[in-house]
Amino acid sequence: MFHSVVTGCGAFLPEKIVTNADLAEIVETSNEWIVERTGIWERRIAADDEKTSDLALAAARRALASAGIEGRDIDLIVLATTTPDRTFPATAVRVQKEIGMEGGAAFDIQAVCSGFIYALAVADNFIRLGQAKRALVIGAETFSRLLDWKDRSTCVLFGDGAGALVLEGKTEAEAGGRGIISTHLHSDGRLENILYVDGGPSSTGQVGKVRMNGKEVFRQAVTRLSSVIEEALMANHLKVSDIDWMVPHQANQRIIDGTARKLGLSSDRVVSTIARHGNTSAASIPMALAEAIGDGRIKQGDLILTEAIGGGLTWGAALIRW
Ligand code: ACO
Repeated sequence: MFHSVVTGCGAFLPEKIVTNADLAEIVETSNEWIVERTGIWERRIAADDEKTSDLALAAARRALASAGIEGRDIDLIVLATTTPDRTFPATAVRVQKEIGMEGGAAFDIQAVCSGFIYALAVADNFIRLGQAKRALVIGAETFSRLLDWKDRSTCVLFGDGAGALVLEGKTEAEAGGRGIISTHLHSDGRLENILYVDGGPSSTGQVGKVRMNGKEVFRQAVTRLSSVIEEALMANHLKVSDIDWMVPHQANQRIIDGTARKLGLSSDRVVSTIARHGNTSAASIPMALAEAIGDGRIKQGDLILTEAIGGGLTWGAALIRW
């Protein structure tokens, strides 16, 4: 059995900033309403010619550089996205080609906002079993392409971006206690209709737009996230006080605060980027990790709790000794 140790992390944001005031010019909303209900001040939106794979590739290159390795050293790419460049092939294979990775396997995972946790779990299992040695786990989205810019209840929430981690398989002695401790995944298809896109290749033939029952998503989020966090802690005989940093999916500041409050975790141990990124779906967790590593908050040896919930419903958590 090997351990999946995080050896690199990187993120990439499109250049264009869209503020709440900019949105107030296209839908009936206000900076005050958006900030009060969501904690979002601005988000990045990809340029018309900027694809999910471009964001993913830029984040992957930064993660590889921080790990001090080359694309040819990678033998697995698991890319979480809801906004692939094409219906097929997977966005991951374009990243594979561009980084010069000639062997191994590259594929996409679809679990919407929980996608990064799902991708992390898949890559971790490949590494544990010795089926991969070095993996790139990427969350990348151009979620803006799925938005109905006439629907003020959804278009104000989301943004575009990408983040990536490098995981390397190490023996117990090499890992020295570092690595992914456990991952916990859940889904419940009965809740499909509270958050979905009203299109797809086999239904309408069109890409479709995001549709959401915001109140119901909110209600489900805090309950399900708290329970999966408790499951992760109990499985490893850990307590909330053992957590150095909670790095949640950035859906809404009120969901983040509600979950932390329910756990009894103080806000100074929670990484939040929602104010500047909005909800970037599968990209939000690796982007938040990259920010907290970059500014020195997350240090080697820290215990990181990460969690997410998204369409499906899907939800999950992971514990990582950094
Ligand atoms: N600006 C101004 N008013 C708005 C806006 C807006 N952008 N959006 C909705 N409103 C109005 C509504 O039309 C409604 O008006 P009415 O009372 O005249 O009918 C009023 O504000 C209240 O609407 P609610 O939907 O009840 O507002 P709520 O307090 O529930 O907040 C929100 C909406 C922010 C979406 C909230 O439900 C929420 O955070 N839900 C969680 C959803 C979420 O985070 N989704 C992200 C994707 S899923 C994920 O990543 C997990």
